[in-house]
Amino acid sequence: MRIERVAAAVRELSDRHFNVLRAIESFSEKGLLVTSRELSSSTGLSEEYVARILTELHRYGLIWAPRGRPSGYVLNYAGLDALALRTMASRGILKSLGNRVGVGKEADVYSALTPEGMEVMVKFYRVGRQSMTKYRRTRSLPSDVSFYLGASKAFASSEIDALRRLSLTEVPVPQPVYRNRHAVVMQRIEGRILAKVRSLRRPEIVMEELLKAVGAAFRSGVVHCDLSAYNVMVDQEERVWVIDWPQWVRPDHPNAKDYLRRDVRNVLDFFRRRFHVDVDPDEDSERVIASLLQV
Ligand SMILES: Nc1ncnc2c1ncn2[C@@H]1O[C@H](COP(=O)(O)OP(=O)(O)OP(=O)(O)O)[C@@H](O)[C@H]1O
Ligand SMILES: [Mg+2]
Repeated sequence: MRIERVAAAVRELSDRHFNVLRAIESFSEKGLLVTSRELSSSTGLSEEYVARILTELHRYGLIWAPRGRPSGYVLNYAGLDALALRTMASRGILKSLGNRVGVGKEADVYSALTPEGMEVMVKFYRVGRQSMTKYRRTRSLPSDVSFYLGASKAFASSEIDALRRLSLTEVPVPQPVYRNRHAVVMQRIEGRILAKVRSLRRPEIVMEELLKAVGAAFRSGVVHCDLSAYNVMVDQEERVWVIDWPQWVRPDHPNAKDYLRRDVRNVLDFFRRRFHVDVDPDEDSERVIASLLQV
């Protein structure tokens, strides 16, 4: 599903369409298919009118009828995107959506503009995206859909929570702007993903900065848990930025120390291999962790 089509739906469809789409969302969250009759009673619109709206929502690709129209509809990710974008547009958070800048397993990241003309990033979570496509073919239970939509919202909520905590500290993270449903709006970082950087002027310093960020995050109550060169950006001045925080845990989580150890090891390993920084991940990670926790 192309996001341009979703953006067009957000511009072109009426409040009535979105009222019906929101009603479908609340059924889908419970794992239920919903028919035009049920939607008519929950929205107060005539069944005939609802049926027309459903045909249009379906034409825009925002809903599915997995077992055929009489059995009912379920929301898909395009529909969830449309709901989030409509909310963001009406609250004056976003004016327009730009290019896709990142595709991950669990998320798509787009550039966007605020009404003030500031460029920001929007990250749409898409948990279980592959299974959702398969679901379309196999026509299995809508309860899976409800699980995936819920998990995507939970990830977005967890990520903005981490960004809000950390943006008040010295940890270099994108400034959080707003979250709705499964979508997080944040500052755009002008830089490159560390995993794709072949040369640095001062790799030791960059590594130190990154480890300092890991330590400061820990002291602020956040362990990243998925730290790798793919979740770090480096700007022109070789400053680091840590992104992609949905899986963070608090330091009192039973496995927090293990996650911290793994994050630190990933950093040391990467800098040793890519930039030949003189560290021994086995020996040095314990020492580094001890010093990070002490400061
Ligand atoms: N704030 C940002 N500024 C600039 N680019 C960003 C920003 N956030 C994300 N990106 C780009 O989008 C890509 C994917 O972002 P991110 O790592 O947050 O999610 P993901 O890896 O797709 O998610 P998952 O780990 O769930 O698969 C990044 O590699 C980066 O290129
Ligand atoms: Mg990532």
